[in-house]
Amino acid sequence: MLERLLKGKKIVGVVCNQFGDTGKGKIVDYLSEWADVIARGTGGNNAGHTTVVNGVERISHLIPVGIVYDSMGKYNILGNGMVIDTKVLSGEMDDLDRDGLTYNNLMISKDASVIMPYHIKQDRERNQSQEKGGIGSTGRGIGPCYTDKIARRGIFIEDLFNKDVIARKIEGLRKFKVYPEEDLDTEKIINDLAPYTERIAPFVKDTINEMHNFVRRGKKILLEGAQGLLLSIEYGTYPCVTSSDCSLNGTASGVGISANMVDLPLGIIKYPFMTRVGKGSFVTEFGGADSEAYCAKEGDIYYEVNTYLGAKFNLNEIKKLQVEKDFVGLKKFRQSANDCIKANRDKIINMINSEDEFLQGVGVRLIGWEFGATTGRPRRTGWTDAVAARYAVPINGPLMILTKADCLSGVDSFNVCYGYNTSKFTSREFNRSDDYLRSVKPVYRTYDGYGDISDVKDFDKLPQSLKKSISEFEKFTGGCVKVVSVGAEREQTIVR
Ligand code: IMO
Ligand code: MG
Repeated sequence: MLERLLKGKKIVGVVCNQFGDTGKGKIVDYLSEWADVIARGTGGNNAGHTTVVNGVERISHLIPVGIVYDSMGKYNILGNGMVIDTKVLSGEMDDLDRDGLTYNNLMISKDASVIMPYHIKQDRERNQSQEKGGIGSTGRGIGPCYTDKIARRGIFIEDLFNKDVIARKIEGLRKFKVYPEEDLDTEKIINDLAPYTERIAPFVKDTINEMHNFVRRGKKILLEGAQGLLLSIEYGTYPCVTSSDCSLNGTASGVGISANMVDLPLGIIKYPFMTRVGKGSFVTEFGGADSEAYCAKEGDIYYEVNTYLGAKFNLNEIKKLQVEKDFVGLKKFRQSANDCIKANRDKIINMINSEDEFLQGVGVRLIGWEFGATTGRPRRTGWTDAVAARYAVPINGPLMILTKADCLSGVDSFNVCYGYNTSKFTSREFNRSDDYLRSVKPVYRTYDGYGDISDVKDFDKLPQSLKKSISEFEKFTGGCVKVVSVGAEREQTIVR
């Protein structure tokens, strides 16, 4: 169905225009079938893309989603802009082995940064827990690793193959007292990294030049974005952001090309609700500060189906499986949680239709299964913010993909935010300042609810109120909606 869009295109970029988790996995999986080369340029295993391949759900954090097409000769690249935990990467290779998938054409940039054990430790201590004053990072060492890169003391993938270089760089960290002495045992660090270095060695390449060659040869290239524009270090709600520029610009630069060369940039937007994980301003959040505080605490899908739908999951047993990373054991529970949500759909819709904003937020979270793919945390939920979407258009381009509208079928009405009320006037402008965003109140346009849209194949056949809202959204943002996803399956994709 996407053929029409892709006709004559060579380089396609898929990025998110909100706070991440907008369904990049599904779209990227779809587009990977078209591409010869799939490349990621930002972040690391803070990302989590869920795809369903042959009925089996896969969650990938580092390796591009396109890896499932490796046996068809497609190249998958981890670009120079990424930060890579080689242990996690080796683990993902093991997972591919287990799933019977090949990765012969995987390329890991020699210029990507290495997440070191001291990065992870510092990230967990300083940034992970919101209750301890952090921003709610994923605790994967992303921020400290990018910090070292910018401070010109980073360790790159190619350095792993020269022990003297690693030792010299660690000595530098020691001299400038960047990390506690006990975290800088050079020999231990080198020995601990060695098996993973060996594991990834055959795949390490000069990917910048490889990319340039692919471009010269006219290969079809897909840039797989991670995170989202509002989490970008350049454009996002600083300081509650990730440490890379996850805009189209940053994604292109992270694979060694200019965003100028992307001839089909697509920005994904959840509509008419959106989500955010971790700390930071979120103008349209259901339940405001209460929701932010609630989602900052530990909690997950099982806790919520117990609390709000009266299920009786044994949380201790599940916690144990989570700690042991027993994914097979957990799968059964995921399935029954899913069944429970389906069986209680009417009850959840009533929660969303209620006057209680906090409860609305829980309802949307349950119906959209909005729990982190990486951390399992409950995602904060709110109505889609057209003001933020308008800010994204000049950065990521006008072409938009809307996702997850199907989740809200059955609600009485829905809102989209078209202005920020300051104490003096209504602004149409997004501004990344946390203080500003926390001081404004959303101004909504309200639309009638709609029924089931999961089988709709044609844009014109979408319910009138949804179409009207989309048309107003385009007019306001200056964007153009090209695709509307109406379900997890590939067939549930409407192309205009
Ligand atoms: P995908 O690719 C949603 C958020 C974290 C935290 C902040 C900083 O799945 O959309 P970090 O560990 O990056 O230093 O955390 O950024 N964050 C994401 N939120 N989706 C992601 O990736 C994210 N990657 C980072 O929750 O608030
Ligand atoms: Mg995610």
